[in-house]
Amino acid sequence: MPTETATATTIASQLAEKIANKTARVGIIGLGYVGLPLAVEYAKAGFSVTGIDLIESKVERINAGDSYVQDIAAADVAALVETGKLRATRDFSVVAELDTIYICVPTPLRKTKDPDMSFIVSACQEIAKYVHPGMLAILESTTYPGTTDELVLPMLAGSGLQVGRDFFLCFSPERVDPGNPKFQTRNIPKVVGGVTPACTKLGAHFYAQALENVVPVSSTQVAEMVKLLENTFRMINIGLVNELAMMCDRMSINIWEVIDAAATKPFGFMPFYPGPGLGGHCIPIDPFYLSWKSKQAGIEARFIELAGYINGQMPHFVVEKVQNALNDRGKAVKGSHIHLLGVAYKRDIDDVRESPALDIIHLLQRRGAIVTFSDPYVPSIRMDQELLMSVDALAAVEKADATVIVTDHAQIDYKPIVERAALIVDTRNALRGLVAPNVIRL
Ligand SMILES: NC(=O)c1ccc[n+]([C@@H]2O[C@H](COP(=O)([O-])OP(=O)(O)OC[C@H]3O[C@@H](n4cnc5c(N)ncnc54)[C@H](O)[C@@H]3O)[C@@H](O)[C@H]2O)c1
Repeated sequence: MPTETATATTIASQLAEKIANKTARVGIIGLGYVGLPLAVEYAKAGFSVTGIDLIESKVERINAGDSYVQDIAAADVAALVETGKLRATRDFSVVAELDTIYICVPTPLRKTKDPDMSFIVSACQEIAKYVHPGMLAILESTTYPGTTDELVLPMLAGSGLQVGRDFFLCFSPERVDPGNPKFQTRNIPKVVGGVTPACTKLGAHFYAQALENVVPVSSTQVAEMVKLLENTFRMINIGLVNELAMMCDRMSINIWEVIDAAATKPFGFMPFYPGPGLGGHCIPIDPFYLSWKSKQAGIEARFIELAGYINGQMPHFVVEKVQNALNDRGKAVKGSHIHLLGVAYKRDIDDVRESPALDIIHLLQRRGAIVTFSDPYVPSIRMDQELLMSVDALAAVEKADATVIVTDHAQIDYKPIVERAALIVDTRNALRGLVAPNVIRL
């Protein structure tokens, strides 16, 4: 009879071998901005990859060799589908045949700013039906410290399998930065922490097959906290410069010039920039996962709450600037045509999740403005019941009473815009250095 340790070693070493010789069958649950790039990297590295998503149109597009994620070329997907390295399905029963599973499902906030764990829970309920000896599962969704051990582990271990012996479980934060041409899934260092040392070892071994740099840490909680530190750091620093921008506005000081000059200090300073508000699926959301968890440990996350409040004020501040500028010209917001240049939450991407543009449009419409937008990356946006379509930028700017630069996409030529606009409120310093009577800066 083999001993328990010998069984554990055998299961782990068999899986390690399958990973090393790339015969491990890889599964990715959630084929979004995070899951699809990961699926493509592993398929490119030579693994056979199955993506599982609930949305039929995504599954169909992948299987048809198409891409809906901006950073992933359709040609890459097509080549991998053609060679049988990549396929997608809605059917979770394939988990029974898979050796490794990544969980890359959304982790939004509820209206109360509490974590919404429903996507992770429903994915794990499905995985739990098919969990089997020799399987490695890695949670990549951003979440509060403790999720992997306290929520995911009991669901997967419910089948009677023992973690670290029969199956393996890790957390690894996803750090992908959509639209970043320099750092992508492959060359962003990957932090990974397992429930047991055997889990960490296998997780790190698995990432090393497809990614350039792996950073093992001692536990899932450390790995979970790493991501929250990174995003909270950004959120709070952005909150600080947003507050400074409002102070500088009151004192008629150009905040952009202040930051540029401060950034000449060769040590001890890192520039962050103000803007119309936070957006995306990470920075406005993740820190509240930490503050929720921290409250349970009896600590109020005061920096997070304060920065969240200040960042949340920015769309209001932008609308006030538009209103004041119109008033100075003898006009009111009510009945004015206001055009937004850009609605994506940041430059050169097509994502409008949590974009401050949505708040700005809402606030302007509530004050009676007629709002249009143009965005080379975003053909339409849904505002409650209304579908707003992107229009021709120059024609709209020419007619508008005010234009607001909300997203500074690199491809926009601002010269003709400045020449034709009656009034421009620039929330991104896109018109850097340009002084003109029709230009108002944040
Ligand atoms: N987008 C980013 O830049 C980014 C960066 C770092 C980390 N993250 C984190 O990664 C996670 C995923 O984010 P994303 O941007 O890829 O989200 P996304 O919405 O683009 O993709 C998630 C996918 O999961 C699918 N899905 C939802 N529930 C499912 C289920 N039960 N089973 C199978 N599929 C399911 C959805 O249909 C969707 O296609 C989040 O936790 C997010 O915070 C995102």
